[in-house]
Amino acid sequence: MYLNMQRQLNAWLFWICLLAGLIPAWAEAQQKNSSETIPPARSTYMGRRIAQAMSYHGADWLVRPTRESEERPSEVLKQLRLKPGMVVCDLGCGNGYYTLAMAKQVAPDGKILAVDIQPEMLHLLSLRAESEGVKNIEPVLGTIVDPKLPKESVDMVLLVDVYHEFSHPQQMLAAIRHSLKPTGQIALLEFREEDRTVPIKPEHKMTKKQILREYSANGFRLAQQYDGLPWQHLMYFEKDPNWISQQVSDKPEN
Ligand SMILES: C[S@@+](CC[C@H](N)C(=O)[O-])C[C@H]1O[C@@H](n2cnc3c(N)ncnc32)[C@H](O)[C@@H]1O
Repeated sequence: MYLNMQRQLNAWLFWICLLAGLIPAWAEAQQKNSSETIPPARSTYMGRRIAQAMSYHGADWLVRPTRESEERPSEVLKQLRLKPGMVVCDLGCGNGYYTLAMAKQVAPDGKILAVDIQPEMLHLLSLRAESEGVKNIEPVLGTIVDPKLPKESVDMVLLVDVYHEFSHPQQMLAAIRHSLKPTGQIALLEFREEDRTVPIKPEHKMTKKQILREYSANGFRLAQQYDGLPWQHLMYFEKDPNWISQQVSDKPEN
């Protein structure tokens, strides 16, 4: 209850700051509220090299006109089968390419929790939401270990081209697990490493085998997959009820 009130207050504060041009101040206040100590970033996880997070300076690439023909996001949105009333988290939302489209699909009663670690990305998203008159988006400034999501309240967490950037994959997956409703799922999109013709840097791609290894080690099992996209894997994960949680290790592998 207290957490809900705090979240609502944060959302109001965000919109007030947006109108007053004070987004950096809002972001700073959010970061100060965070009392956690963050372990050092990993460079690898389970043998995979972790990619650097994409800077907001490159945000235009996310809304490039060729994205539809290259990645077919309209097909992704069809596959997600969102319904009005759902609570969906767009984790690593960037400037909101998917956020805006999904907000329209879950309206009028549903909402999108739009999480990113770069306040500038949330600012760009809020400008786009405002110009399209979309109101059911709750921006959340996450940290590299915590997406700051409410407990057991999310129907779907969408991860588009972001999981491979997590500097703390174990902590992030634990937090996502915590936020999902018992029937909730992750929808994971990653560029296919198996396919050499996908024109993306190797550290920004993943194989299915590697994805399955990392997700099963962190309490998820494959629920479904869709192989009809031109560049990406689309894999759905649900909580594995038989998984026994182990302590998260902060030790680097190399
Ligand atoms: C390649 S962009 C993809 C943006 C968006 N999903 C899209 O497809 O248009 C990756 C985004 O994830 C964000 N990101 C990276 N690590 C994150 C984390 N631990 N929590 C939340 N966002 C993160 C980055 O700041 C960046 O905006």
